[in-house]
Amino acid sequence: MATMKAVRVHEYGGPEVLKYEDAPRPQAGPGEVLIRVHASSVNPVDWKVRAGYLQQMMKYKMPMIPGWDVSGVVEAVGSGATRLKAGDVVYCLSDISRDGAYAEYVVVKESVVALKPKSVDHATAAAIPLAALTAWQALNDGAKLSAGQTLLIHGAAGGVGTFAVQFAKMKGARVIATASKKNHDFLRSLGADETIDYNTTKFEDAVHGVDAVLDTITGETMERSWQVMKKGGILVSILEPPSPEKAAGHGVRCHHTFVQGNLEQLNAIAKLVDAGKLKVIIEKVFPLFEARAAQESNATGHTRGKIVIRVV
Ligand SMILES: NC(=O)c1ccc[n+]([C@@H]2O[C@H](COP(=O)([O-])OP(=O)(O)OC[C@H]3O[C@@H](n4cnc5c(N)ncnc54)[C@H](OP(=O)(O)O)[C@@H]3O)[C@@H](O)[C@H]2O)c1
Repeated sequence: MATMKAVRVHEYGGPEVLKYEDAPRPQAGPGEVLIRVHASSVNPVDWKVRAGYLQQMMKYKMPMIPGWDVSGVVEAVGSGATRLKAGDVVYCLSDISRDGAYAEYVVVKESVVALKPKSVDHATAAAIPLAALTAWQALNDGAKLSAGQTLLIHGAAGGVGTFAVQFAKMKGARVIATASKKNHDFLRSLGADETIDYNTTKFEDAVHGVDAVLDTITGETMERSWQVMKKGGILVSILEPPSPEKAAGHGVRCHHTFVQGNLEQLNAIAKLVDAGKLKVIIEKVFPLFEARAAQESNATGHTRGKIVIRVV
């Protein structure tokens, strides 16, 4: 059996359960493509899965491979996969319920694999899919954000937040961003109109009557957010589903986004990158065999933009 290098989890636990080792090389089934991974990136779901926090939701066959962002080159296509061919340079969000891309190869449904933005390298492209699709889906399908509206983004300096700030500005919205002080100039450079240091200011004292809140933090941040919206406003959470009863009690609406792979959206995002309209923020790149350090870095909760894993 052909093998590959991968970082695998044999049992749920701390960062030490991530093992860099040989693993069977997967094969593309019907409608799937085998991608030679050049880079992946770390999202919080990677270490939440590794720690076993999502066992109720996701059932993995052990050992499993985390990391669902992919940038690479199509190695082979399965039967019925007709759009892509070997040699195509691609990026995508792979299926979170299957083995991911902390590995030399990953198998993905052809229907969610897009051509990579041409103007950036694989490390940069790999930082995009999960976080950018989440921001895109939360603002378009969730908040249905439009020009002239005001959006409060919690966690604006993170993976999802840095894309959300830019997408919201492209739509012509006014953006208020929460982050620690060290990230304020950075967020203004991405387009944020106002910044709030959540360490020193209660955002509910500074913000009133916004049209929408994008909550990437949850907990008490969500609870304190109900009061900052105008009547009919909307809170979009990408963590726990917000309570429709609480929303109704405040005269607002709520929505929960759980990111989905999407070819058309990745094509649109690639165009924005290639047109120089969307910046991809990368804090650090780790080699595959240092996936543990990469996850530990993201799990601090203070990544600016993204942490990338370089495979090639
Ligand atoms: N539902 C979905 O489909 C979906 C998709 C993607 C992500 N998520 C979840 O959404 C969350 C965010 O994801 P992510 O990739 O953006 O995470 P991330 O990149 O790790 O977020 C880190 C950022 O959070 C900021 N932050 C930490 N505490 C904060 C607070 N109290 N108020 C405001 N900002 C704060 C930090 O800014 P400072 O350094 O300035 O503190 C840092 O820039 C994660 O829990 C993830 O699992 C869900």
